[in-house]
Amino acid sequence: MATLKEKLMAPGAEEEATIPNNKITVAGIGQVGMACAISILEKSLADELALIDVLEDKGKMMDLQHESLFLQTPKIVADKDYSVIANSKIIAVTAGVHQQERKSCLNLVQRNFNVFKFVIPQIVKYSPDCIIIVVSNPVDILMYVTRKLSGLPKHHVIGSGCNLDSARFHYLIPEKLVIHSSSCHRWILGEHGDSNVAAWSGVNVAGISLRN
Ligand SMILES: NC(=O)c1ccc[n+]([C@@H]2O[C@H](COP(=O)([O-])OP(=O)(O)OC[C@H]3O[C@@H](n4cnc5c(N)ncnc54)[C@H](O)[C@@H]3O)[C@@H](O)[C@H]2O)c1
Repeated sequence: MATLKEKLMAPGAEEEATIPNNKITVAGIGQVGMACAISILEKSLADELALIDVLEDKGKMMDLQHESLFLQTPKIVADKDYSVIANSKIIAVTAGVHQQERKSCLNLVQRNFNVFKFVIPQIVKYSPDCIIIVVSNPVDILMYVTRKLSGLPKHHVIGSGCNLDSARFHYLIPEKLVIHSSSCHRWILGEHGDSNVAAWSGVNVAGISLRN
């Protein structure tokens, strides 16, 4: 006689394959990739989140899936087979090696170029209309590489640029002035890395130039 569990868990109707409306993929599930994935989930940006990495690690996917109770994203998938990313609207690329302490991220260019030579054609194969956000370093060079390798229109390939640097600047100035960071406006300009510059002339505190 079938147990209650067997009766309750009897196979139901086959799940219908539906195309997601707002699928987001993160390619490269290291430190930065996981931070991206958690941000996407916490802001409920996607109806499906896909994770892709050269290494098979179902543990990270399961950690995120088991948080579902607190999240609004119904489907979270992960694989090393790129078919899992099909129909993505946005793909954040964080795959590759990260820089060593006190070494310029420009040192990573050849190794991460080799990674991108593999990753970007796969992305375009499975999600030919997506928007790619490049995060891997050196980000500005790899953003240009991605445009060339993907053949996507310019406005479909975006680099994270100096957003991180600007966010740090945004934190440090209000900390020094003992004001809330929402009252301060500032930018770091140039190439992300050692050569970028703080636009001090543009620092604005509650509508007043810091120079004044
Ligand atoms: N733009 C920015 O502001 C910014 C900030 C921080 C880090 N980064 C860059 O982001 C990248 C990732 O940093 P991290 O700290 O997460 O590194 P990490 O080593 O923790 O993770 C990198 C991941 O990429 C994966 N990977 C490597 N080759 C791959 C391939 N061919 N296909 C798919 N996945 C592959 C690795 O398996 C690993 O999981 C680095 O290049 C780092 O310099 C950029």
